[in-house]
Amino acid sequence: MPETILETRDLRKAFGALLAVDGVSVQVQAGAIHSIIGPNGAGKTTFFNLLSGNIRPTSGQVLYKGRDITKLPLYRTAHIGMGRSFQITNLFPNLTAFENVRLACQAMGRNNFSFWQPARHFTRYTDRTVAILEQVGLAERAGQLAGTLPHGDQRKLELGIILGADPEVLLLDEPTAGMAAEQVPELMTLIQQIQQQGSKTVVLVEHNMNVVMSISDRITVMHQGQVLAEGTPAEIAANETVQSAYLGGLYELDQQDREPAA
Ligand SMILES: Nc1ncnc2c1ncn2[C@@H]1O[C@H](COP(=O)(O)OP(=O)(O)OP(=O)(O)O)[C@@H](O)[C@H]1O
Ligand SMILES: [Mg+2]
Repeated sequence: MPETILETRDLRKAFGALLAVDGVSVQVQAGAIHSIIGPNGAGKTTFFNLLSGNIRPTSGQVLYKGRDITKLPLYRTAHIGMGRSFQITNLFPNLTAFENVRLACQAMGRNNFSFWQPARHFTRYTDRTVAILEQVGLAERAGQLAGTLPHGDQRKLELGIILGADPEVLLLDEPTAGMAAEQVPELMTLIQQIQQQGSKTVVLVEHNMNVVMSISDRITVMHQGQVLAEGTPAEIAANETVQSAYLGGLYELDQQDREPAA
């Protein structure tokens, strides 16, 4: 049995009368790419905010490695191994790519608030920063101000910033948002490499159905705050409720496109 690394139990979040997340129970297996899909307003980002401790649930539980982390705030979940991205690009535009990643490495170091650090710590952070920039394909842009990088590179840099904290679980909220279509496969390959090489777990919110179907081990479909369906990509693609409620003809159309002419 694969180990469950992250789990929610009957998670709810109400905004006034609106139940943005309405009784969601999900189990994420360690080492998996687990995607959360659903139409706009389905509650995906709110669910992420609950997982990462950005907001508190109205009721229900979040467990990380069996430990109840429901009430841990964002900075604490980051320290126990959960790294998250935001739907909107989130970096320091007036710092270089290098500085952005090094800050992330340093923030997670043990002596992060002490001024007097042995010089070898800085070397360690610098080495790690170089390695991470190489991993996300930005080594040559290390000295460039983050705000002046092309959008696709900014999204790669965000991955680098998350990796700076050396998380076990990456929560990625639409990492390809705003990217040109031709850049999407590269970023997804990068995410797969990060997951496989570092044996990390990825929870992914993504609108691009081709991407989701090809990259995911498991998919949870959300609709109006609830889980509509869960399964492997093949199961989700074949699920009639999902087809009528969300996927519509989209995925089928894509399959036909790929079918060689008879
Ligand atoms: N802070 C908030 N206060 C009030 N309502 C909110 C708040 N955050 C989200 N909502 C509402 O909760 C519902 C779920 O929003 P959420 O952002 O989680 O959806 P989503 O699935 O991420 O959508 P999208 O695909 O557009 O990113 C929406 O109706 C949204 O308007
Ligand atoms: Mg969202």
